[in-house]
Amino acid sequence: MGGENQSAVSEFVLLGLCHSWNVQILLFVIFLVLYLIIVPGNIVIVTSIITDPHLHSPMYFLLANLSFVDMWLSSITTPKMIIDFLREDKTISFGGCMSQVFLAQLIAALEMVLLVVMAYDRYVAICKPLHYFTIMSLQKCIGLVVTAWTIGFVHALSQVVVIVHLPFCGPREVDSFFCDRPLVVKLACMDRHNIEIFMNINCGFVAITSFVMLLISYTHILITVSKSSKTGASKALSTCSAHITVVVLFFGPCIFLYVWPLSITWMDKFLAVFYSVFTPLLNPVIYTLRNKEMKNRFKSYCYGFQG
Ligand SMILES: *[C@@H]1O[C@H](CO)[C@@H](O)[C@H](O)[C@H]1NC(C)=O
Repeated sequence: MGGENQSAVSEFVLLGLCHSWNVQILLFVIFLVLYLIIVPGNIVIVTSIITDPHLHSPMYFLLANLSFVDMWLSSITTPKMIIDFLREDKTISFGGCMSQVFLAQLIAALEMVLLVVMAYDRYVAICKPLHYFTIMSLQKCIGLVVTAWTIGFVHALSQVVVIVHLPFCGPREVDSFFCDRPLVVKLACMDRHNIEIFMNINCGFVAITSFVMLLISYTHILITVSKSSKTGASKALSTCSAHITVVVLFFGPCIFLYVWPLSITWMDKFLAVFYSVFTPLLNPVIYTLRNKEMKNRFKSYCYGFQG
């Protein structure tokens, strides 16, 4: 990346989650196990949706996309965090650090937009059921997914282009387990006020726009559901409560990390772990186990492995 010539710092030091050696060993085991569940779990969801013709509908394609993105969300930070638990010096190169900032921002924005697209899909299915397949055609669906990637890309690039050119001259300790954007910006030796405002507005724009659109979709859905028949309503409600749970779990940490940072170190670390490890774990669990077809598909996978 272009900025290295301006910066005296060629690598950063990650301070990690904690200092106690015993706790780090314990965390090593816990996060290794979680990571070994997250990646295969999400791969199973993606492959079962792609290979099963019964699951070829916009809702499942979007779920597959979300799982795919979740796998990357945890893979940006978790493997390095796991290895670092066992290392005395937790350094990361300048380029590695900037890649983490870029990828984390890309995935965060991408996941937000995907959640909006999924909410829109449910809105069309529940509020305009007769026109569902004309409105959510395959082309439209692909278009929405491409849009999500584009927004994520532009958002992440606009931040990283600024950060790479910041002068890094002195302190190089990032007080977290990965190069988190606000923590890296804090290390620049200059007046950071305007840059921090730009970053927060940039993130806030994506987060708040997505959040408002989610709110509009789910309000429409809940109003429609409350007017309709009882059985249809309870089915729609159970799908949507899964969606709303994921939205809250995802947006909660994200907003307090990037839009209105609390700047309480232990809280920030907890939210960052929650966001990068637990969201990718919970998404498949919540969406899959609340969904009959996916549950059956999982059962058949398990029997397949046994027999
Ligand atoms: C993502 O969604 C698109 C459009 O529905 C679909 O064609 C594609 O297979 C999905 N990708 C993955 C990895 O699931």
